[in-house]
Amino acid sequence: MVMNNRDTIIVHPSATAPTGIVSVPGDKSVSHRAAMLAALAPGTSIIGNFLVSEDCLNTLRAVETLGASVVRDGVHVKIVGLDGRFRATARELDMGNSGTGLRLLAGLLAGHPFVTTLTGDASLRSRPMRRIGEPLTQMKCDVDLLGENGCAPMRVGGGHLQGIWYRLPMASAQVKSCVLLAGLFAEGRTTVIEPLPTRDHTEIVLRRMGVPVDIKGSHISVEGTAGEPLKLKSVQGIVPGDFSSAAFWITAAACRPGAELTVRNVGLNPRRTALLDVLKRMGADIEAKPDPADAHGADGPWECTGQIVVRGRALAGTETGGAEIPNLIDELPLIGVAGALAEGPTVIRDAAELRVKESDRIATLAQGLSAFGVSVEEHPDGLTVHGGAAIRCGGAVNSHGDHRIAMAMAMLALFADGPARIDGVACTATSYPGFWDTLGELGGVAEQR
Ligand code: S3P
Repeated sequence: MVMNNRDTIIVHPSATAPTGIVSVPGDKSVSHRAAMLAALAPGTSIIGNFLVSEDCLNTLRAVETLGASVVRDGVHVKIVGLDGRFRATARELDMGNSGTGLRLLAGLLAGHPFVTTLTGDASLRSRPMRRIGEPLTQMKCDVDLLGENGCAPMRVGGGHLQGIWYRLPMASAQVKSCVLLAGLFAEGRTTVIEPLPTRDHTEIVLRRMGVPVDIKGSHISVEGTAGEPLKLKSVQGIVPGDFSSAAFWITAAACRPGAELTVRNVGLNPRRTALLDVLKRMGADIEAKPDPADAHGADGPWECTGQIVVRGRALAGTETGGAEIPNLIDELPLIGVAGALAEGPTVIRDAAELRVKESDRIATLAQGLSAFGVSVEEHPDGLTVHGGAAIRCGGAVNSHGDHRIAMAMAMLALFADGPARIDGVACTATSYPGFWDTLGELGGVAEQR
């Protein structure tokens, strides 16, 4: 289905979907990091299976504005980098909907001898930026948060950065990455201490580009150049399929007795796949088969990839919280969906970070589930979903412009007692442009209105 710019979709219930074999587009987190760092490398880097979504295209545009040359042919991206330092621009960099785009690029720009302004759409301009403003200020960067309540637009740069020792107040890979990337340009060593392990794509990409990253348990350190240009190596590599995109199909298939699904070429970084552990605890039949290690040559996938095979069956509710949360942070709406379809209560705890995502995902998920007649209790840091009742297609469901809520609700709609209307679906293009086509390929029926 070619998406026009209409923003509403009707999803029909299905007795079998999602069933079949699927490949998902490239990982969003890896695509952002690869593009930004290739733009600072010397010479030409080649990135295969780049995620051609609105968020990552904004990052490509931003690094072009900062002086890198970008040639894209479909998912194949060639970047001629700037050998260690961006060029100043008076233009505002619009990172669209992407917290990763803004927070990581702010880290890289913090140590440059000029000031850059970063901004984004209304959702991004409502998300907290003091969480990066504070450590960058401690590093002696000039930071101005021009929006209300410490939000973007944000001006960064101009200072001679000092390395810091920074204990993250929250488990956030974006904040960790921002501080480490700023640390690359600082004087001395920068150490970030994580309260819980979060996704480690920045560390992996940096090492692959020849930057030493010292990891000792929860302490991650880099040495800075004291304002001199970075010394990186150009790279060739393939972005793994995005586990967070595969997660929609995996969850729905796991909950559908009789469904059989194979996902190919998907990233299996263990800091991303905790959803599989939770679904298995609920009784799901899921097997992840990593590709052999020799698939990972110098120009192979950036990280561990493999296949995931799912055979659907009836599930039971569970609880998730603690250290699991950062490793399934983007999949929590899907735990809500699985919880609604499983027998008994499912409880999500320790997930207050969901309140500052593309929407307040605790509130928007609770609203979405309730629109399907699911009984939900909202907590400050999560929710309880009482599963096992019929899924009803009552009033329209609203994504509140949040791509992951729109797609999670489409999965629940496959199980409803009639066609369900979802408003606010154009946003799926920020992370998963082919989502509605793939839904059709896996046996679902959705019509745009
Ligand atoms: C991301 C980290 C996560 C995640 C986001 C992408 C990243 O955010 O929710 O979609 O690429 O580093 P936080 O680290 O702020 O939780």
